[in-house]
Amino acid sequence: MAMYSEMSREELLQEKLSLQKEYDEFKSRNLQLDMSRGKPGSEQLDLSLDMLTVLNSKEQCIVNGTDCRNYGILDGISSMKQIFADLLECGEDDIMVGGNSSLNMMFDAIACMMHAGFEGCEPWEKQGEIKFLCPSPGYDRHFGVTQYFGIKMVPVPMTPTGPDMDIVESLVENDEKVKGIWCVPKYSNPQGITYSDETVTRFAKLKPAAKDFRIMWDNAYCIHDVTDKPEKLLSIVSECKKYGNEDLPLIFASTSKITFPGSGVAAMATSPRNMALFKKRYHFQTIGYDKLNMLRHVLFFKNADGVREHMKKHKAVLAPRFNVVISKLRSQLGGLGVATWLEPNGGYFVSVDVMDGCAKRVVALCKDAGVVLTGAGATYPYGEDPHDSNIRIAPSFPPVAELEVAMDLFCLSAKLAAVEKLLAQ
Ligand SMILES: Cc1ncc(COP(=O)(O)O)c(C=O)c1O
Repeated sequence: MAMYSEMSREELLQEKLSLQKEYDEFKSRNLQLDMSRGKPGSEQLDLSLDMLTVLNSKEQCIVNGTDCRNYGILDGISSMKQIFADLLECGEDDIMVGGNSSLNMMFDAIACMMHAGFEGCEPWEKQGEIKFLCPSPGYDRHFGVTQYFGIKMVPVPMTPTGPDMDIVESLVENDEKVKGIWCVPKYSNPQGITYSDETVTRFAKLKPAAKDFRIMWDNAYCIHDVTDKPEKLLSIVSECKKYGNEDLPLIFASTSKITFPGSGVAAMATSPRNMALFKKRYHFQTIGYDKLNMLRHVLFFKNADGVREHMKKHKAVLAPRFNVVISKLRSQLGGLGVATWLEPNGGYFVSVDVMDGCAKRVVALCKDAGVVLTGAGATYPYGEDPHDSNIRIAPSFPPVAELEVAMDLFCLSAKLAAVEKLLAQ
């Protein structure tokens, strides 16, 4: 079929009639499918079922003389720290193991910097307007946290190698009000982009105008491959050390998409100076996190290699789902000029850019026919996609058969919205 933009008005009208007929058929099926969030499917949750029974005696709870059933150890048990240190390529002493959510730790870190001055600066909350750079499209909940604290969000375009570093350098190095940047450096949410070595090095070499500038390095998808072409991320910790910038990054990760989301274990890694600041706050905030859950994870995985092995099982479940999404996009939208997309090697999403001005319409068409997608605009700060084109597809949750139907509807809706737009011009 020809590119839509090259079709005559007559051809477009004809195409619209046939698409509309197909769409009405979908509607009559009363579908109820959800592709809105990056939630593991039940087959993935089953992979960690044995973790629920692996801890079953008093003896197992005594670790190096500490009874994990009791209060104590603010920053987590050593064996859990070792696993995160290995996965995040840093030292065990750089790790603080937290509760069940890395997003919660990011929220806490920002709350801490809002409230407690550091590097000899006033607390962020006393500095008037402050700004965060938001590589976009990005993770909606990062933007939500920033907005909650009243921090001004400045979008920075993503490129195939990570955020546009010319823009990042120019803003960070010349504007004292820029205090932070959100990064999902490996298999980014939603595009699945892994930052290139050059991008990581340029982050490590930043000379921020603000002494209290920090990089929020959310390595949520550090070991989440979905194809046989795993990507490698340069270690931000060693790069920053090379350039005397070891205090810049705050690194986060969790086992949410490894074991059980909401019941996993989260961690933060950072320099000793930063850690001292955060621990001062944690010391008042909690007596300690859930050591029994840490222990369950350690007994289940043994070590970081055990976690990596486990991720192969996730890959086996996820790969067919990603294949469905990619093959439907290729076969139904390829060559029509109505959408572009990235084909990721890992992470949890496929990011599709439909024709400019059509994302909201596509999401609405899908919703009216029973398929819920992440809201259009969600991948941009303040929910405002300047092109109204980006849509995040989350293939993990629905069973493959449902995903196929949902993708058929998605592709049909992308075409219908494009034809409507071209006819309206
Ligand atoms: C980039 C990113 N960071 C963090 C999270 C949430 O992680 P957690 O469950 O550890 O709070 C998600 C969940 O989708 C995510 O995509």
